Amino acid sequence: MKKLGMIAAAALVACAMATPVFADGKDLFTSKQCVTCHQPGGKGTGPFPKLAGKDKAFLQEQFLAIQSGTRTTGMSATMKNNPGVKSVTAEEIAAIAEYLSALQ
Ligand code: HEC
Repeated sequence: MKKLGMIAAAALVACAMATPVFADGKDLFTSKQCVTCHQPGGKGTGPFPKLAGKDKAFLQEQFLAIQSGTRTTGMSATMKNNPGVKSVTAEEIAAIAEYLSALQ
């Protein structure tokens, strides 16, 4: 019983530690307007690619390439010109990518 309690306590601590980063990325995904195009949960639709479950490093790289204008494929310019996208910092995209990569 005592051992189980310890495991439960450890799990709670792990959750408490993991939650801020995760919640932050989720909040940013909405507040920075990603959700308008990429849909709730990053599921994507039509020309807006699915982001959920993709590799964190891939998401970060592609986001920064579109934001800086080095990636110009398809409708990249539409994303680049979005005010929310323009305001995202390197730390913020790391948190958003962390959130998205953990989804299905
Ligand atoms: C105005 C619509 C729009 C908004 C807002 C937007 N995106 Fe996009 N995004 C796109 C489109 C369109 C593409 C695909 C570009 C192409 O055709 O190559 C894309 C592509 C991407 C990709 C590359 C995916 C891949 O599989 O290659 C990432 C990562 C991404 N967006 C992240 C974000 C994040 C994070 C935000 C919010 C900060 C965001 N986007 C906001 C429209 C948008």
